[in-house]
Amino acid sequence: MEYLIHRGEKIPLIGFGTYRLGNNERSAEVRTIRYGIDRFGMTLLDTAEMYGSGLSEEILSDIISGCDRDSLFIVDKILPSNAEKGLYRECCQQSLERLGTDHIDLYLLHWRGNVDMQDMVDNMERLKESGMIRHWGVSNFDTHEMEELFSCRNGSDCFCDQVLYNISERGAEYDLIPWCKAHDVLVMAYSPLCNSRAARTAVANDDIVKRIAANEQKTPESLMLSFAVRNKDVVTVFKTSSIGHLDLNMQNVFVPISGKDMAKLAQHYAPPTKKYPLEKI
Ligand SMILES: NC(=O)c1ccc[n+]([C@@H]2O[C@H](COP(=O)([O-])OP(=O)(O)OC[C@H]3O[C@@H](n4cnc5c(N)ncnc54)[C@H](OP(=O)(O)O)[C@@H]3O)[C@@H](O)[C@H]2O)c1
Repeated sequence: MEYLIHRGEKIPLIGFGTYRLGNNERSAEVRTIRYGIDRFGMTLLDTAEMYGSGLSEEILSDIISGCDRDSLFIVDKILPSNAEKGLYRECCQQSLERLGTDHIDLYLLHWRGNVDMQDMVDNMERLKESGMIRHWGVSNFDTHEMEELFSCRNGSDCFCDQVLYNISERGAEYDLIPWCKAHDVLVMAYSPLCNSRAARTAVANDDIVKRIAANEQKTPESLMLSFAVRNKDVVTVFKTSSIGHLDLNMQNVFVPISGKDMAKLAQHYAPPTKKYPLEKI
């Protein structure tokens, strides 16, 4: 594994997503995550109270109970509908119980919704003071929403913005990623493999992608992951329930993509030349 240091924390560049975890046999899914931790150092685990209505957190409890807790970096998320009702402490407590741990490393507001921003910051800071969470952040915030957040008291304590970013969805490069860098906010890219089967296979079966991947001795999927973390300033989380897929996805993933192949990729999946609203899933 390779890491970046953000506000004193050593964060793995690639972590495990858990959206739709629970669709396969639980023991097999747990085995895959354990394999990712042991074989590749994928100690960053991303979950949310929304995923399977808590099932993903419960499955992660099987991992947490068998690991040195301090070796893991657990990311969890509160739904805006619960945040709007002021249920920060209650929801966080329920997530902790499902996870079987006494703290969450990074707690995110899942998306903007109609949440009162100052109230969110105050509540997140209180959770931090109580020790239930170590850091807080947001998800799916576009640049203007980050600016709104930073205008709040203690808003700049926001550790991270988790956003959709992958080879075919590069909009965040235009101003959001630069803004986050300038304001010391970690960007965590979700859906680096394009989320849906149709979108992923459209990229993975693309002749140019296949040719570049072969040239770089990567699989199309490991090329997509390499792309997301290429500058070592963005971390990413992908989901798989398959050990076979995990091996394919991590093949030579930290070997830099050559300048020549990056240029070919950029011709095909061009960086944004103007602002587009942040894409979300
Ligand atoms: N903050 C947010 O709003 C938000 C939104 C979406 C996602 N997320 C987080 O980001 C994580 C990753 O995003 P994601 O799950 O949407 O999408 P993703 O990681 O881009 O793609 C996951 C899909 O790709 C498949 N896959 C993985 N490797 C493969 C391979 N080598 N060959 C074929 N299929 C492969 C997986 O199926 P298999 O299991 O069969 O391998 C799964 O269906 C989520 O799990 C979640 O933790 C956050």
